[in-house]
Amino acid sequence: MDRRINDSPEINWAAYPMPRVRHHVNSQAYLPASQHHILPTWYPPVRTEGDWASWFVNGRNADVLDVGCGRGAFLMRHALAFPELNILGVEVRQILTEWIAGVIAGEHLGNAHAEWYSIANGLDWIPEASVQCAVYLFPDPWPKKRHHKRRAFSEEFLSMLHRVLVPGGKLWLATDREDVDAYQRDVLSKSRFFQLREVDDATPWPFPFATDQQMFCDAKGIPYVLYYAERIDERSQSAGA
Ligand SMILES: C[S@@+](CC[C@H](N)C(=O)[O-])C[C@H]1O[C@@H](n2cnc3c(N)ncnc32)[C@H](O)[C@@H]1O
Repeated sequence: MDRRINDSPEINWAAYPMPRVRHHVNSQAYLPASQHHILPTWYPPVRTEGDWASWFVNGRNADVLDVGCGRGAFLMRHALAFPELNILGVEVRQILTEWIAGVIAGEHLGNAHAEWYSIANGLDWIPEASVQCAVYLFPDPWPKKRHHKRRAFSEEFLSMLHRVLVPGGKLWLATDREDVDAYQRDVLSKSRFFQLREVDDATPWPFPFATDQQMFCDAKGIPYVLYYAERIDERSQSAGA
């Protein structure tokens, strides 16, 4: 993957005016559906299977998973830059997935889809060992301790990603928040499923285009960190045991 930023094709974003977006949805949407007696209408639908044939023109599963895809700049740029890969975003804010669907249709991107879904309900509907890589880029910080339960990143989250990723699959991470960075590194340091790794010359950041939040940080001079976690392969674990 040696494409440079300037080589990446770009979408004419001005053709797709963004509706006004409230920062957060109801805070209960960040918690699993099992914690509700009756699901409110504003709660993102709970999935039991993927609708691959309608999401991607080639009808195949997702190759790349974008958790919390937000306004979808990364998702759609990825689809343009890597037409051979299907990219699936999950996003808890319905209005954003609707807007992204309009851009995808306008740009004829048959390999991108953003699904209105809360990651709190898991990834059981994604086939095992089917995803080549996952990204979790600039997640919501939820800085107050009592709100940490709304953070998706946990050992359970890593176990779900471990199941859907192929052997050797990577989870790419970015954050502009020191507290989120420390929290993620702490979770990863104790994980049975992933090993924290730093990007370097041997394994550089592979995406030659920015996310919406990354562009915001770049414009404002806000520093951020980029790193990744490598899926731990059970066979290499047992071979080394
Ligand atoms: C700060 S934004 C970053 C968006 C994008 N990844 C980027 O880098 O520009 C975090 C996104 O994660 C979404 N999100 C937060 N919790 C979520 C959840 N439980 N399920 C799905 N999406 C979630 C938020 O709605 C928001 O759009």
